[in-house]
Amino acid sequence: MPVPFCPEATAVIPASGPVYAPQHDTGLLADALRREPFRPGTTVLDVGCGGGTLALRAARAGARVTAVDRTAAAVRATRAGAARAGLPVEVLRGDLFTPVAGRRFDLILSNPPYVPAPAPVPPRGPAVAWDAGPDGRDILDRLCDGAPGMLRPGGVLLLVHSALCGADRTLARLARAGLRAEITDRRTVPFGPVMAGRRRWLERRGLVAAGQDAEELVVVRAR
Ligand SMILES: C[S@@+](CC[C@H](N)C(=O)[O-])C[C@H]1O[C@@H](n2cnc3c(N)ncnc32)[C@H](O)[C@@H]1O
Repeated sequence: MPVPFCPEATAVIPASGPVYAPQHDTGLLADALRREPFRPGTTVLDVGCGGGTLALRAARAGARVTAVDRTAAAVRATRAGAARAGLPVEVLRGDLFTPVAGRRFDLILSNPPYVPAPAPVPPRGPAVAWDAGPDGRDILDRLCDGAPGMLRPGGVLLLVHSALCGADRTLARLARAGLRAEITDRRTVPFGPVMAGRRRWLERRGLVAAGQDAEELVVVRAR
């Protein structure tokens, strides 16, 4: 029996528990990833790997990939996907950069939780994959602050999120942390059920206009 794990999708990873299904944000970041050059031995860190779509893509392109996620189900799913594909991906469980403290990478990827939510970041449950505090920045800001210390010289950070949580704030935060950042990709996508179900609250907070039913996703590239 498949386990429904995300209101935006119906794909499942049986017997693995709740894992985020690849969505528009995954696809937009995958497009940006495709443009990055991979030399033999390029090291990649995927923070918040979910089911492992991006980590496996990087590994297929020849990178040495480490994937991190907070949830056991995501770790299991990514390990299983890597094993099925015969790809040597290191998969670690933990909070953002904690499991790889002291290491540095050529490329850091992240499609983090970024949906503004009335409640604080949840400790467990499917919403761990998308809820990110009142302005959607609880995880994003921590990523922006921590990424420079995790990059090798010349390294690159690729980050995707909704413009609702402030692309300019991401650029400014990364600049303060010492990185040169720009928006490289944009795509407008219809609200999924999570955003649609929260529309009134988002309107009251001034994060969306009355009647708005789509949001812009952005990829930020920083080095
Ligand atoms: C939007 S999903 C992205 C999944 C996958 N990378 C993709 O693009 O399809 C965000 C992922 O981040 C994980 N996550 C949330 N908070 C985290 C944290 N503090 N540390 C590590 N992973 C986290 C969630 O469990 C979830 O798998």
